[in-house]
Parts: sequence; C-alpha cells; structure tokens
Amino acid sequence: MPVRWRRELTEVLLTEERIARRVKTLARQINRDFTGRDLVIISLLNGTVMFLADLIRHLSLPLRLDFIGVSSYGSGTESGALVFTKELRLDVRGRDVLLVDDILDTGKTLTKVLAKLRPLRPRRIKVCVLLEKKARRTESVRADYVGFEIPDKFVVGYGLDFAERYRHLPFLGVLRPEVYEVP
Ligand code: PRP
Repeated sequence: MPVRWRRELTEVLLTEERIARRVKTLARQINRDFTGRDLVIISLLNGTVMFLADLIRHLSLPLRLDFIGVSSYGSGTESGALVFTKELRLDVRGRDVLLVDDILDTGKTLTKVLAKLRPLRPRRIKVCVLLEKKARRTESVRADYVGFEIPDKFVVGYGLDFAERYRHLPFLGVLRPEVYEVP
C-alpha cells in the first residue's frame, strides 16, 4: 500500500491492476450481451465516477449516458433515508438500459431506483455493479454483472467514499475503524 495511506487504511483489498482486468472482462460481456442494441447507460452518482469512466471506454456499442443522483443521508456506515438529488433526463421507453452502481450492499438503493425506472417502460434493464456485499442484503434485488464479491468491510477508493473523502484512490482499500468510529 502507498505509504501515504498507511495511517488511514488497513489493507488494499483490490489493486488498480486487478480492478482494471475485471472491468475489461465485464465490458466484454456487456458488448456481447447487447450486440446490435442502442444502449442507455444510467449511472448512479457519485460512487460510480471511476468505475463508469473505465467501463465505458471498453464498450464498443452505440450508447447514451445519463445519471441519477441518489444518496443515503445516513450517519457513518449505516444507510439512512434515500434522497434523489438528480433526476433522469433521457427517455428510456423501449430502450435497453444498463444500470450501473459501485456497490450493492443492502439493496435499498437499487430497489428504489428500479421501482422508479420500470414504469418508464424500458425494453429491459440489466444491473451492473463493481462490488457486492452479500452479507448485508435486506432486499431481494440482484445484479446481472458483478465485478467482485467482497467481505463486509468498510471499503473506500475507486469512487467509494467515507464522508466524501477517498474517492480518488485508484485502488480499493479498507478504512481503519479509528477513522470512521466516533469516539
Ligand atoms: C452507496 C453506493 C450505492 C449504495 C449501496 O451510495 O454508491 O449506491 O450506497 O447501498 P445499498 O445497497 O445499501 O442501498 P451512497 O448513498 O453512499 O452515495 P454515493 O454513491 O454518493 O457514495
């Protein structure tokens, strides 16, 4: 792990190289599954910033990009009430939609977003997440493309934050409890 982060992180869970390889593989699957389709990618802000940027540069399909802002304004590690901070702008009726998120945790976010998208009558919606924590699922939602299944640790980096920090780390690290535990 870079020396700079040793005081705040306990370990590197996924290196930059490993993430890059997996993202390429996911993109290949998506290219194959959506061949001949004109895709709408809907990405959930803000956590998808790095994953999305890396994923789409390997996609060779015609596609359009849109974003939905959704945030759980909870304290610390627990998700609170979900608030939409940016609404969808593209018309998805009859379209193939790929919904992209950074992590599938309890499943509350994806459940709420899917409930909002389905009445707009897309042709189909597939879900792609970089990470999933199976241990914490409370909703019956599932993802069609999953980068990595990870243990229930507080992960940051590669888009994921703690209190809006650490999103810029090029790897996925585990945050030291001292950083997020309130004394
Ligand atoms: C995080 C993450 C997912 C969601 C997953 O979003 O980006 O969207 O939580 O959790 P869930 O499955 O339990 O709903 P957050 O609200 O932290 O916003 P962010 O993307 O801006 O970090």
